[in-house]
Amino acid sequence: GRRRQDSCHNLRRQIPREKMFKMGGLVVFCGLLAQATILLNALPSALGETQTPARVPNPTDLARSLANGLGNGLLSEGLLNILKYLPLVDNLKSKAGTSGGLPGALLGELSPLTSLLNNIVDLKVTDPQVLELGLVQSPDGHRLYVTIPLGLTLNVNTPLTGSLLKLAVKLNITAELLTVKDGQGETHLVLGDCTHSPGSLKISLLNGISPLPVQGLLDSLTGILNDVLPNLLQGKVCPLVNKVLSLLDITLVHNVIEMLIQGQQFVIKV
Ligand SMILES: *[C@@H]1O[C@H](CO)[C@@H](O)[C@H](O)[C@H]1NC(C)=O
Repeated sequence: GRRRQDSCHNLRRQIPREKMFKMGGLVVFCGLLAQATILLNALPSALGETQTPARVPNPTDLARSLANGLGNGLLSEGLLNILKYLPLVDNLKSKAGTSGGLPGALLGELSPLTSLLNNIVDLKVTDPQVLELGLVQSPDGHRLYVTIPLGLTLNVNTPLTGSLLKLAVKLNITAELLTVKDGQGETHLVLGDCTHSPGSLKISLLNGISPLPVQGLLDSLTGILNDVLPNLLQGKVCPLVNKVLSLLDITLVHNVIEMLIQGQQFVIKV
């Protein structure tokens, strides 16, 4: 503001007295301009920093920044390694220990899981993947649902097939984000439900081995993976989402919270 006021003073000084009359309009205009500049300078502190035009984000940018922030956060917090080193074999074994396989046991047979585990020499995860995160906003605008598409390849080594069995496994975890006010009246962005839809685990055979001897094994393996893997993944991924939320950029979180409180739609579904 000061520079504009100064230039008006200079202007007035440079104008000869006889021309001052004609220039009256300009002088008044300069005065108004100086006043307006002072007002504008006073505005940001009166309205609060967040409402300065430069910091109000474009809704699409905000949604993209949030999805990117969460995705990058999950990667930098080691999600791929978590997928790769899932304690899958341990989980299958403890499952075999507890389920017992009653009908088979009565007939003196091993449970399908136990016989399966006896036939699996090795089980390894390769190619852990996190695809692009999806965002959906609830109709009332107050909640967000983050879809986290996970993928991995299971390499199953079993003498029954004579070669490695490669299975592609895909699962979406959905994390709900909402705002919660604490005792001090501060609002936080927190993780609500974090789940997968039942039956949504997708398993497909990647390498074409003659299906006949494999089919039975594949069926029981699929059944058991459906039983164990989604909960195992959910139990690993959801705490990580919670952690990543606390690491997000503060301005980004602030802007998201504003939108959610106001119920303003900023996630455009495509
Ligand atoms: C995960 O979600 C995406 C987008 O909503 C969908 O296209 C995909 O089929 C889902 N994948 C699984 C394994 O459910």
